[in-house]
Amino acid sequence: MNPHRLLHRTVTVLALLAGLSTAAFASKDKPLIGLSLDTLKEERWQQDRDTFVAAAQKLGATVIVQAANSDDTRQVSDVESLISRGVDVLVIVPHNGDAMNRAVKSANEAKIPVIAYDRLILNADLTCYLTFDNVKVGEAQASYAVAHLPAGRKARIVRIYGAKTDHNALMFKQGQDNILLPLIKAGKIEVVHEDWATDWKPDEAKKIMDAAIARAGTNIDAVVVSNDGTAGGAIQALLEEHLDGKILVTGQDADLAACQRILRGTQAMTVYKPLKSLATLAAGVAVDVARGKPLAPSGTLDNGFKQVPSIFEKVIAVDKDNLMDTVVKDGFHTASELK
Ligand code: BGC
Repeated sequence: MNPHRLLHRTVTVLALLAGLSTAAFASKDKPLIGLSLDTLKEERWQQDRDTFVAAAQKLGATVIVQAANSDDTRQVSDVESLISRGVDVLVIVPHNGDAMNRAVKSANEAKIPVIAYDRLILNADLTCYLTFDNVKVGEAQASYAVAHLPAGRKARIVRIYGAKTDHNALMFKQGQDNILLPLIKAGKIEVVHEDWATDWKPDEAKKIMDAAIARAGTNIDAVVVSNDGTAGGAIQALLEEHLDGKILVTGQDADLAACQRILRGTQAMTVYKPLKSLATLAAGVAVDVARGKPLAPSGTLDNGFKQVPSIFEKVIAVDKDNLMDTVVKDGFHTASELK
């Protein structure tokens, strides 16, 4: 047998014996990246994954993707399997920002750097965190609602937050609070119902909206909802009461269905986060980290363990007036898809 083939065969056999794939023989030239996602259910995460993988491949890397279906135990074992496959760097979107620090510890012990993507991992030794300005997302949602509330009387609003296990959900609420609390204190706004949607599920949001109507009646001016998936759930509840389009609803992500609802008038706004630029940036950072190149963070964020070098991207509030100039102009959705 030709000596090269023999060597390749020996390496493959050894790799299989060690429970590894040949891809585990990563090098700095061709880094192996492990991407562990909480979920792929929402449209945005599919876009994040596709952009990240394509950008990393362009830079010579290979990406192994795992998605945990909102299950902490599964996500920890996903990360452990990526570690055992010899990845050079891990990129994690945690389901639970607290629970994932165990997985980061295992990576740290294996000397594998960890990058948190979009969602922070708490009390963990992260190399970098890339995200959008999440407080600004919440501020944009609440400011939009406030600007469109009726004048001359106390406005009645419902607040639907995201998953309590997601640090971002707290940041969105914090941003909303920055705008709403002074007005609530001044007696200009009353929150007639509020709750957290477990795992960001649209069904949970529908239940919260049903409960709000049961408790406070249909005399509601706005529903400040933290993302488009849950906005869809809330709007379903409104539709059943023939109130869709009559009560302002906010969102986030510029999901296709949400953009269609904006054009139809059943959802007032969304917050567009240019995912392509964040995912492309993250792929570049992951490859640089694997190659030992220095980072260029735009700031830091305290995760309870350290000031994590962080990169924050800007967000854009979108309603029917600027949908074409933002989401469509960027190619995030095409005009024909929106019809
Ligand atoms: C993300 C949002 C997303 C939500 C649900 C958050 O952490 O920042 O864009 O809608 O999770 O997946």
